[in-house]
Amino acid sequence: MAAYEYEVHDYDVVVVGAGGSGLRATLGMAEQGLKTACVTKVFPTRSHTVAAQGGIAASLSNMGPDHWQWHMYDTVKGSDWLGDTDAMEYLARHAPEAVYELEHYGVPFSRTEEGKIYQRPFGGHTTEFGEGPPVQRTCAAADRTGHAILHTLYGQSLKHNAEFYIEYFAIDLIMGEDGACEGVVCWKLDDGTIHVFNAKTVVLATGGYGRAYFSATSAHTCTGDGGGMVARAGLPLQDMEFVQFHPTGIYGAGCLITEGARGEGGYLTNSEGERFMERYAPTYKDLAPRDYVSRSMTMEIREGRGVGPNGDHIHLNLSHLPKEALQLRLPGISESARIFAGVDVTKEPIPVIPTVHYNMGGIPTNYWGEVLNPTEDDPNAIVPGLMAVGEAGCASVHGANRLGSNSLIDLVVFGRAAAIRAGKTVDRAASPRDINVAQIDKALDRFDGIRHAKGGTPTAELRAEMQKTMQEDAAVFRTSETLSSGCEKMKAIAGKLDDLEVTDRSLVWNTDLMETLELTNLMPNALTTIVSAEARKESRGAHAHEDFGDRDDENWRVHTISRVHGAEVQLTYRPVIEDPLTQEDKGGIELKRIAPKARTF
Ligand code: FUM
Repeated sequence: MAAYEYEVHDYDVVVVGAGGSGLRATLGMAEQGLKTACVTKVFPTRSHTVAAQGGIAASLSNMGPDHWQWHMYDTVKGSDWLGDTDAMEYLARHAPEAVYELEHYGVPFSRTEEGKIYQRPFGGHTTEFGEGPPVQRTCAAADRTGHAILHTLYGQSLKHNAEFYIEYFAIDLIMGEDGACEGVVCWKLDDGTIHVFNAKTVVLATGGYGRAYFSATSAHTCTGDGGGMVARAGLPLQDMEFVQFHPTGIYGAGCLITEGARGEGGYLTNSEGERFMERYAPTYKDLAPRDYVSRSMTMEIREGRGVGPNGDHIHLNLSHLPKEALQLRLPGISESARIFAGVDVTKEPIPVIPTVHYNMGGIPTNYWGEVLNPTEDDPNAIVPGLMAVGEAGCASVHGANRLGSNSLIDLVVFGRAAAIRAGKTVDRAASPRDINVAQIDKALDRFDGIRHAKGGTPTAELRAEMQKTMQEDAAVFRTSETLSSGCEKMKAIAGKLDDLEVTDRSLVWNTDLMETLELTNLMPNALTTIVSAEARKESRGAHAHEDFGDRDDENWRVHTISRVHGAEVQLTYRPVIEDPLTQEDKGGIELKRIAPKARTF
């Protein structure tokens, strides 16, 4: 058994991760007087939310008529009818109050002439239940909205005395005999000490796993750490096959060019200079949802109308927009285009390509953020003491495809919901439980085994193999052949985790060890993604299966539940929640199920 000393910290709530959802949860818990710690592997304002550009969706009606029911409808349709309707209602209904709260906390939103929060159009956000013109629903702070939100929430959390443990890496969850989560074991990166956080509730806010792919807009820190810990604890992941490709990653560099660029009037062209989106989505054109636009771009490239010497990308045009508008509304991406593509957006188009951006799947939760462990008898059974929010979680509001700007609102609405729930369920008066020595030892044994790994495969080599396989075999378009060969390759790659080689055995700032731990988190995420995709014999949202081109609601309107056992994945299915949360809205309008229909734009 590995002999490590550790320091024990007792808290009511421990939040793992300090992006938008982690900070909103932390703030909400601390505001209610819960003794709250936020443990994060990067400094809070360096979390990946800082890279969110275009904005946060809420039906404020600042730029024209809008209703939360229209937002809910667009989210249901955007999800290709795979989202849970109760959660989607909760999101759209509570979005306006969550954004006004952010405003009052101090987020410096861009303003209209009248001083209201500025809102821009984003793909898939419409009026009149999808029958009217696009709506301006996305509240923006220029094109640095995530940055503005993150700084504000961190400041507010400090004001409410939340305690931060910065540059601590979460190794594993501590799970009790009764199946409840009791805390988390962490490694402090700058001095090598080990810390046990004994908690009445743990909230996983660890973000997505974009780095399972070779090219992603996600930060290098997006390694699915929450999903990895959950899978090792024997708990399931949900809907992992649905991976979003953002239409406009900079060709070659992968950096994001916000959808807000098209919201402000930018448009895509092919090698013939044609605005091809008019053919694919005659009504909403460049403002169709992301899965639609990414597939259309890929088809243009495949049919020989890509731009560049190899005909392998597409142009995003902004040079027709007034210079002042670019400076005021899109300063960040103008700079990114200059640095990463060598392009002056006032004169030339930006070379772009669909790039992995977001994971719709994750740790299954209800709309309070409570983690689910579905059984045959109870598809909504919860795991006591464990919550998940943000991209790490799957509530499921995005279903098979997320609408742009529904991510930031998901972070704050469900971070806030988790805090409201914990305020009711956590017993502040209860004394901390005894620490679970056996489970802590188990986590430290795994840590020590990896630290001293003496196999023949360097971490970077295995990670590159995984990323290449995922990029090639679980792409925008998938076929039975690519998916089944991808599954075989990924199982072999996951098997090589036992043959890893870590060369640095130290405990202080050991990036070799940290990247290896991250790889052990990425792997179950990648594996469940490709196995779930191989099994789903239909096309829905971001899962475009060329051998099964249609959506099949009769057989496949179900959530995929995946559990990892070594390099094997076991799949079961859970019904989609079709009923809304409430039967009536405040105006007395009856809320009904939104029946599936063909998804055209
Ligand atoms: O395009 C963007 O600004 C990204 C927004 C989002 O993913 O919601």
